[in-house]
Amino acid sequence: MLRLISVDLKKEKIETLVIPVCEDKKIHADALILAIIRKAKKLKEFNGEKDQTVTLYDLPEIKARRVVLHGLGKTAMLDAEALRAFAGKVVKNCIQKTLPALWLAVPDKCPAKMPLSSIVTAMMEGACLGNHRFDRYRQEKKKKPLKSMYFIVDPASARKIKSPASRTAKICQGTTLAREWISTPSNDKTPEQLTRMIVEQAKKQGLKTRVLREKQLQQQKFGALLAVAAGSRSKPSMVILEHRVAGAKNSVALVGKGVTFDSGGLNIKTGGSMSDMKSDMSGAAAVAATLITAARLKTKVNLTGIIPIVENMPSGTAIRPGDIIYSYAGKSIEIGNTDAEGRLILVDALAYAVKKFKPQLLVDMATLTGACVVALGEKIAAVFSHDDKLAAAITAAGETTHERCWRMPLPEDYKKLLKSDFADLNNISSTRWGGAITAALFLSEFVGDTRWAHIDIAGPAYAKKENAYCGPGGTGFGVRLLTELIEKI
Ligand code: BES
Ligand code: ZN
Ligand code: ZN
Repeated sequence: MLRLISVDLKKEKIETLVIPVCEDKKIHADALILAIIRKAKKLKEFNGEKDQTVTLYDLPEIKARRVVLHGLGKTAMLDAEALRAFAGKVVKNCIQKTLPALWLAVPDKCPAKMPLSSIVTAMMEGACLGNHRFDRYRQEKKKKPLKSMYFIVDPASARKIKSPASRTAKICQGTTLAREWISTPSNDKTPEQLTRMIVEQAKKQGLKTRVLREKQLQQQKFGALLAVAAGSRSKPSMVILEHRVAGAKNSVALVGKGVTFDSGGLNIKTGGSMSDMKSDMSGAAAVAATLITAARLKTKVNLTGIIPIVENMPSGTAIRPGDIIYSYAGKSIEIGNTDAEGRLILVDALAYAVKKFKPQLLVDMATLTGACVVALGEKIAAVFSHDDKLAAAITAAGETTHERCWRMPLPEDYKKLLKSDFADLNNISSTRWGGAITAALFLSEFVGDTRWAHIDIAGPAYAKKENAYCGPGGTGFGVRLLTELIEKI
């Protein structure tokens, strides 16, 4: 639970009060807090350096049981992301010490350019996201998330600013829902199971849900999606989630890659490259969680989520390299490599989105290429779009939420790399270079003249190691980004 409050520190019984402290400047206005900081800074071991902490017990001037002073470093280095990271670390430290609740003294005037409401929002976000752990498979749940997190501001501010607590909690809940789905192992997340999990959560929030199952997919000729699914014992599906609001001006369709496990198929992945492929449905998770979040926030945009779900496995029934299949759009595709399966399921979903929903905007999100990770690393997603405004809106949303996106080109002349000797297209490029680009160009063949963008999240969707406000596993990358995007367009 998140709450914005103002309290009398002399009277309020507080278990753990955390005070952020800068090395160079005062960032608090409250006299009592300033006095405590002065006291702490007299100690040799504390001067406010980044992530330095000191705990003081039973101070005579206030009622708090313990006061943790946590260094933020120099004020010039502070921004929204530094505050998120700070709050995330504070929460993790509390969890480590099995403390059940936290009171955080919000700085009054730092960073200088940020309004107080943004400072509070960033801290709440970091705290809320840092409070999540994926521990469903652990018998001994030693580390319990915090039950309550209070953010202390002065009484005037508490009255003045509209508390972001409930909105932030909803957005973070969406992010952690995506994390849970992504971190769930593939043996408990077959396409049938993932379909059920998504539909169940979507229905709870009042979204309209529809599932196209194998028979309907066959009848409606989703040939590319069915080709990828052919090797798996689990049946594929296409999940459609609709969020409708009366009088909405904009309509957006979101498509997310939902490969519950990517073994590569007959072009089986080698070495360690298969190990985290349970996360190959991160695009699907982000899209479904964004729709669920939009329903909770009652976002005034007509939003449709189209989520193709399959498992990519090698078997006697799997597609083979050299096979030629027909996509939903009617184009024939030669299978150059069964490991380039994401683009196959996506083009059927994109073509369906364009045909059935005619959205003003179409955005797909996918863990599409290893080449994208080579280009931008594990923290930054790639954005591809012919539409400058849409690409700029996505990168701007990513700056706001610190889900960083970098625009990449869609060069017309690279399209010839996708030529096939026998079919309309080959699903892989004739060269190994520029793989993220050729994958995006492949998708671009199926969106007509709809305003479209593709976001390759192969890098940031999954984290092997924990960081300030995310545990190891699915990061939920994309939920905050897409939520911000659809609210801003
Ligand atoms: N799911 C992978 C891409 C991926 C790689 C995601 C690493 C996350 C981390 C995708 O289906 C894939 O296998 N792509 C191939 C394409 C190639 C065969 C043209 C790749 O990137 O190697
Ligand atoms: Zn693959
Ligand atoms: Zn894949």
